[in-house]
Amino acid sequence: MVEVQQLTKRFGARTAVDQLSFHVAPGEVLGFLGPNGAGKSTTMKMVTGFLQPTSGTARVNGFDILEQPLEAKKALGYLPEGAPAYGDMTVQQFLNFIADIRGLSGDFKRARMQRVIEDVHIGQVLTQRIDTLSKGFRRRVGLAQAIIHDPKVLILDEPTDGLDPNQKYEVRHLIRNMSKDKIIIVSTHILEEVEAVCTRAMIIAHGKLLADGKPEELAARSRYHGAITVKLDARDDAAQALKALPDVAEVQTEEAADELTVFPRNGAVLLPAVSALMAKKQWQVHALYQQKGRLDDVFRQITGGAAA
Ligand SMILES: Nc1ncnc2c1ncn2[C@@H]1O[C@H](COP(=O)(O)OP(=O)(O)O)[C@@H](O)[C@H]1O
Ligand SMILES: [Mg+2]
Repeated sequence: MVEVQQLTKRFGARTAVDQLSFHVAPGEVLGFLGPNGAGKSTTMKMVTGFLQPTSGTARVNGFDILEQPLEAKKALGYLPEGAPAYGDMTVQQFLNFIADIRGLSGDFKRARMQRVIEDVHIGQVLTQRIDTLSKGFRRRVGLAQAIIHDPKVLILDEPTDGLDPNQKYEVRHLIRNMSKDKIIIVSTHILEEVEAVCTRAMIIAHGKLLADGKPEELAARSRYHGAITVKLDARDDAAQALKALPDVAEVQTEEAADELTVFPRNGAVLLPAVSALMAKKQWQVHALYQQKGRLDDVFRQITGGAAA
């Protein structure tokens, strides 16, 4: 368990984290979602013991971060923002160094080293100096050091930031694979990442918790929830006719020239009526689907336009 209680951090007059409280259970992958400056990194630094809270505390695996910091830290793996590492060490030297600091030794140390090297696929760069690695490999080395002691709790600060789409995909895949028996907290300002890896999302802005739920629950609060998007040639005629259907609140033409989105009134189900209309008019329809709701829409709504 991770239990955060009234955690607060002030830097001078600025309150970066404001009485944040939440619990995370094993198996959960919690996404911290928020605009830049929301307080995500500061929260992570306090939970991992890198920053002293102004007030409040947290328990990690049952240990209070202020009263039993060593025990709390043993249960934690942490990938700080930007995945800092010692650039003049080789990957092998760095992991060896971290394993020693973590108190691993003998057969267990060898087994763990081998395991993480396999898990994050860094076998081919072991003898390379860290500052000569590509960003993708550096991030994998960062992940390797975070999990080398097989911690129960893994805290990853923007683990895919600055990576290319393939590398992002890979890191997300690694995170999902590790999630079975761990608690993972990931910060991101990429909404698609939350949908891809998180079982739960917390929207944070100005150091405060603004929403907490399953990504699909949050997305269901979007005005796009249940909206129907249609791609067809007769867009303008269709927009007219769709507007006249019962339970349609609004028809919006999308940037793509042949697309429009029909929004339901009061959560009404529109799909049958919309498809029936398309059939009756014999319009050539290229695509028609019901939207699940958009997390980015909810995010903008909740954070008051403080952009992701
Ligand atoms: N060491 C510091 N000294 C002063 N202000 C800080 C410090 N670290 C963070 N802040 C401020 O605290 C707020 C939250 O920052 P941060 O936790 O890094 O946000 P996020 O990770 O969500 O982008 C920001 O306004 C930031 O400028
Ligand atoms: Mg940050």
